[in-house]
Amino acid sequence: MNWTPDSMPGLTGKAAVVTGANSGIGMPTALELAKHGAHVVVAARSPERGKATVAQIQRDVPGAQVEYGHLDLADLASVREFAAGVGTVDLLINNAGVLTGARQETKDGFEMQFGTNHLGHFALTGLLLPKLLARPGARVVTVSSDAHAAGKLDFDNLDLKHGYGRFSAYGRSKLANLLFMLELKRRAEKAGADLISVATHPGVTATNIVKLGPFQFLMGIFMKSAAAGAVPSLYAATSPDIRGGEFIGPKLKRLTPSQAARSEELAGRLWNVSTELTGVTFNEIAYS
Ligand SMILES: NC(=O)c1ccc[n+]([C@@H]2O[C@H](COP(=O)([O-])OP(=O)(O)OC[C@H]3O[C@@H](n4cnc5c(N)ncnc54)[C@H](OP(=O)(O)O)[C@@H]3O)[C@@H](O)[C@H]2O)c1
Repeated sequence: MNWTPDSMPGLTGKAAVVTGANSGIGMPTALELAKHGAHVVVAARSPERGKATVAQIQRDVPGAQVEYGHLDLADLASVREFAAGVGTVDLLINNAGVLTGARQETKDGFEMQFGTNHLGHFALTGLLLPKLLARPGARVVTVSSDAHAAGKLDFDNLDLKHGYGRFSAYGRSKLANLLFMLELKRRAEKAGADLISVATHPGVTATNIVKLGPFQFLMGIFMKSAAAGAVPSLYAATSPDIRGGEFIGPKLKRLTPSQAARSEELAGRLWNVSTELTGVTFNEIAYS
């Protein structure tokens, strides 16, 4: 498709939150949104890296409306504090992600990849929902991956204390991202809410998540730049052609989520478990 970030509409008057905006795909996502006039919150867990990104965007885009917001998705108290401090939000880009080697836990005791990539974003979206619903045409873009296809959800082993593998844990978290995106779409639709929920797979992109993993030798050979990796997110966040529930991949192709990701039963179960684990209820779009 012949679409580039230059095709984006003007975003003056829109407010965006980009998680993990201090590096990789999140950085050019935040930069382009700011370039097109959006007010952008660079949501990052490191004040140093987050503020450096704000300064970089201000250098690249004179007059950019961009600010740092402290957000550690691996800490639900931090997610709550961050969400409470957000003013208005039209575009929420759930972009941050981790691929940890050895098994780790979040501050609240969840397996790190599931806790950060899924539960942190689940809680953030639910806490920002009233603010999103106050804005016409609000969108939630959840960055998943084609790695979701290898993911399996075993509700009896959610903490992965048995049989942890970094790629299976990553695939599971990316499957959860897609199940969440589709369930959010169904619930928003049923409630008649003006909200688009959409997901992306950026394609294999040369970023830290890859640099720190076993495929680093491929960096710069087969991998696209972070700016190219941000294109599906930018398209999903701003194109008038987007419909809720779509999964946008490289070259902006509509991808088909795996059979597990399309399971409404699995999505409903994950939603209920995520609500129990985070205490975030999405009352505005709850099934009655
Ligand atoms: N690169 C690829 O090939 C590829 C392919 C498919 C999908 N993806 C997805 O793309 C998204 C962006 O990743 P990337 O490739 O740009 O990798 P990246 O450069 O490692 O960026 C990940 C971002 O997430 C942030 N983050 C990690 N843990 C966090 C936490 N607890 N709280 C807040 N922020 C946190 C990181 O912050 P720090 O700088 O502090 O670590 C960083 O800003 C991820 O969801 C990833 O799963 C990437």
